[in-house]
Amino acid sequence: MTVESMKHETPETAGTPGTDGAPAPAEPPLAGGGVPLLGHGWRLARDPLAFMSRLRDHGDVVRLKLGPKTVYAVTAPALTGALALSPDYIIAGPLWESLEGLLGKEGVATANGPLHRRQRRTIQPAFRLDAIPGYGPVMEEETHELARRWRDGDAGETIDCTSESFRVAVRVAARCLLHGHYMDERAERLCGALASVFEGMYHRMVVPLGPLYRLPLPANREFNRALADLHLLVDEIIAERRASGQRPDDLLTALLEAKDDNGDPIGEQEIHDQVVAILTPGSETIAATIMSLLLVLADHPEHADKVRAEVHAVTGGRPVAFGDVRKLTHTNNVVVETMRLLPAVWILTRRAVTDTELGGYRIPAGADIVYSPYAIQHDPRSYERHQEFDPDRWLPQRSKDIPKYAMRPFSVGNRKCPSDHFSMALLTLVTAALATAFRFEQVPGSRPQPRVGITLRPQGLRLRAVPR
Ligand code: HEM
Repeated sequence: MTVESMKHETPETAGTPGTDGAPAPAEPPLAGGGVPLLGHGWRLARDPLAFMSRLRDHGDVVRLKLGPKTVYAVTAPALTGALALSPDYIIAGPLWESLEGLLGKEGVATANGPLHRRQRRTIQPAFRLDAIPGYGPVMEEETHELARRWRDGDAGETIDCTSESFRVAVRVAARCLLHGHYMDERAERLCGALASVFEGMYHRMVVPLGPLYRLPLPANREFNRALADLHLLVDEIIAERRASGQRPDDLLTALLEAKDDNGDPIGEQEIHDQVVAILTPGSETIAATIMSLLLVLADHPEHADKVRAEVHAVTGGRPVAFGDVRKLTHTNNVVVETMRLLPAVWILTRRAVTDTELGGYRIPAGADIVYSPYAIQHDPRSYERHQEFDPDRWLPQRSKDIPKYAMRPFSVGNRKCPSDHFSMALLTLVTAALATAFRFEQVPGSRPQPRVGITLRPQGLRLRAVPR
């Protein structure tokens, strides 16, 4: 049976009057096609993007089985907004459980309630709109350094898209937020460890068979080694800052000096988890998006040329600078359209903390909810020619017709990514600089495919950067 043949079951409680006489919320339909033990996990694992996208054909809220667990999938843009904005749901569920070994329980990405509010207050100043220009020089330096390396490389050399994208992402995050000049040799270590850890965590999310992952199998050993190395790296970063006795005005100083609600210094574990919670998702998402942008520049030379012309009109031929970014509207639209079609964060989860209701369906306390920004952003009901790469759909006269919450790559509400301005500035600058300096060509053997893990990015992309 294929996912197309998933069938609705009759809602068990539909139409049953509630105590006040109003119809009680219905049980969402169960997606068909699950198998004993794994439920829908194997379908999700086999073709996750198609699986999540096709769920919309079966309702705005659908029940799934992931291993022994029942999970509720939300497929309508408006309901994903309602979910993200409602206090009835917290950060939890398969995605966040799978990430707990990495992110811990005391960092901003995984904490809930008052702890999360306090942590957001600590990190927020580093990401405020008026703080971003302070990062401009580092973003410019790293972007132009990347272009210089490619220009100075051997003619015709194939770019290692993955490690180059990670390198910029890790270095910019570390240098801007942690003032780390120590990243040179650690960037490679961090990239390797992140790749193994995110892959292992994705398997644990989709097929949550806990004890299996404790067996001494090679894949489990590799995962544990990479995870330990990541934590060690973060301990080294913190220890070095302390040993230096310096207190630069950055996020690491803010974290080291943060106080809890009683005015006492926060614990070592919380400092550690906070650094991990900022460095790792930040690097993974930016790197994934740069890889997608490289693919787009190679696949759509007409848009690469348009970006180049726009940059030239703004700069008059000098190297593009951070201060130019807000004038680069087409370049920005290329970034947004790339994030629509290949969103780094393609899946998100929540947990209901109370018996509640979503879109007229009953959601019991403790239920895990999942939704896919990828599926929402590929919905033909929201987007004309939804599979087409069309940056001009983000021009104001056209974007006003796109439904609310049909494009929220940084999410909304109290868990919204703090780094939206930071990320958009960096990605626009990188796109502008690279499209101006190079024409990108796929080389023989390049077979880009979406690589679906905790994040989404192209893999198998082999490119040559031809200087312009
Ligand atoms: C293309 C780039 C990025 C995308 C698409 C992205 C996307 C997201 C999304 C969708 C969330 C919300 C998760 C949820 O609702 O469950 C999030 C949260 C978060 N992001 Fe990003 N992100 C990006 C870059 C970054 C960067 C560069 C950093 C840090 C340097 C960062 C740090 C965080 C943190 C700390 C959270 C947790 C916030 C909280 O729970 O309060 N992100 N991100």
